[in-house]
Amino acid sequence: MKRKKIGILTAGGDCPGLNAVIRGIVKHAIIDYDIETVGFLDGFKGLILDHNIKLDFDSVSNILNLGGTILGSSNRDNPFDFYYNNEQDKPIDVSDKAIEIYKKHNLSALICIGGDGTLSIGYKLSQRGLNIVGVPKTIDNDVHGTDQTFGFDSALSTATFAIDKIRTTAESHHRIMVVELMGRTAGWLTLHSGIASGSDIILLPEIDFDIDKICEETLIRNKKGRMYSIICIAEGSKQKNSNVVVQDQWNKRTGIIRLGGIGITLSQKIEKITGIESRVAILGHTQRGGSPTPFDRVLATRYAYKALTLVEKNIFGVTVCLRGASIEYFPLEKVANNPRLVPMDSELIKIAKSLGVSFGI
Ligand code: F6P
Repeated sequence: MKRKKIGILTAGGDCPGLNAVIRGIVKHAIIDYDIETVGFLDGFKGLILDHNIKLDFDSVSNILNLGGTILGSSNRDNPFDFYYNNEQDKPIDVSDKAIEIYKKHNLSALICIGGDGTLSIGYKLSQRGLNIVGVPKTIDNDVHGTDQTFGFDSALSTATFAIDKIRTTAESHHRIMVVELMGRTAGWLTLHSGIASGSDIILLPEIDFDIDKICEETLIRNKKGRMYSIICIAEGSKQKNSNVVVQDQWNKRTGIIRLGGIGITLSQKIEKITGIESRVAILGHTQRGGSPTPFDRVLATRYAYKALTLVEKNIFGVTVCLRGASIEYFPLEKVANNPRLVPMDSELIKIAKSLGVSFGI
């Protein structure tokens, strides 16, 4: 009898823990089910162009603690809106091609490891009849239906330790240090690392800030003898009645914007208004790199195990997720195009306020 075969791909921005999921799926598939796994390279592009590698014990050996993804990733290759090359001025729908490759490999399922963009594409493919199971990844932690994506804990740890280091300069030089973090439209990473690092002001995309209020807070701190302030700001944050700050329209074809730079704008304004020296550090892609934390390794491994269980039970059109302490699953339909933001009644915001943290309002 022919061995059952599944496909996997990693799409969207990379993050620590991707390789841990790949390893978990491949090993569990071989050991418990004798299932063969094919890995498509560079996200959905690999599925469309049939760029693939066979995954076995050797290919996933020694990758548990490795950052990035051995399969490569892409956050711009969507089978429903695909550009074969830069000369093409309009995207074309090549989903039929992706479906053809899935069928050519005689796959029982395709496991899509990615954030809400990837899972939205996964949902559309599942509507076209493919057996899709999602695994939620992203440092932004903005995927609906799950308490935590893998990658978030690692980024949180990187950001927190970076802010700890920045604090020493802030104290020594009596400066304001503005630290800009990633997260797109969601403030989870900034909120958690702001609290974990004991930041004085935390600015989130979900709460438009008032520049005068921020300056007032820093001056009050100085009057009390605290001659420095740490301000943690998410890249998607904006001043009241202003627009988000963008680096550029990185992908002119799709119009997706590259956020970044709000920290610089904020720092310059604060220095001008308060007269206190202010500097900025943009943590950027350091937050996406490096080895996954033990928590993320375990979460990624649990997600991989659950994804295979769902394949074996023929449960498709869903993503695995973390609910409290247990691994469950959630319909892709509810995840699609719907990022999870920090709610205004968040317990963490309340707790931070009780510690004297300002949210710039
Ligand atoms: O979604 C993950 C993320 O790192 C966001 O926090 C950030 O806005 C974006 O990806 C950056 O993407 P790129 O690596 O394409 O600049």
